[in-house]
Amino acid sequence: MFGIFDSGVGGLSVFRLLEKKFPKADFIYLGDTAHFPYGEKSDKSIKNYALKNSNFLKSKGADDIIIACHTASSFAGEYLKSQESELGVKVHDVISPTLRKITNSNIKCLGVIGTRGTIASGIYPKSLKNLGIDIISQPCPLLVVLIEEGWINTLETKSILRYYLLPLKKKKIDALVLSCTHYSLLKKEIVEIMGPRVQVIDPA
Ligand code: DGL
Repeated sequence: MFGIFDSGVGGLSVFRLLEKKFPKADFIYLGDTAHFPYGEKSDKSIKNYALKNSNFLKSKGADDIIIACHTASSFAGEYLKSQESELGVKVHDVISPTLRKITNSNIKCLGVIGTRGTIASGIYPKSLKNLGIDIISQPCPLLVVLIEEGWINTLETKSILRYYLLPLKKKKIDALVLSCTHYSLLKKEIVEIMGPRVQVIDPA
């Protein structure tokens, strides 16, 4: 059984794709809304939530834990992987496959949008530092709150999205990583704003 966790509804984008790929598998999804938003919490708190979430999913029968949340993958991905044998599960994060995709591409200038926590962790600049890729990072703290409240197709959300994205577009990035599960729910709007020149990478 796959156990997926996120801080809220964002990780459902990961669930939907996994369900398509493994139609016969069982899934359990945990949206830890009691501690939302993860993006504003400390490294220590995120590790603590990630461990509790994994133990909970394991107690419900999960053998594979998917950390759908980027903030949790940034702060607790390596830590949870180091606890695999104690937990008795296999742990998967969303950042490692994204880094592999970027490494195998021809991207020269990369934009990264994420929560304050993910951007402050510096996970992308640190992990890609030897590849000669220019990385422009933009925290977008207002988006997760709007999405969690269901404000997907509103003028207010679109205007805040433009406020965050237009500076990245001006810098002529080649690709943009949606480094927060919640942003997958705004992918159509993000693609529209960035235009056809920019490859939008959705880690889900
Ligand atoms: N959806 C989470 C992520 O991917 C974080 C949103 C939040 O709780 O701040 O980073």
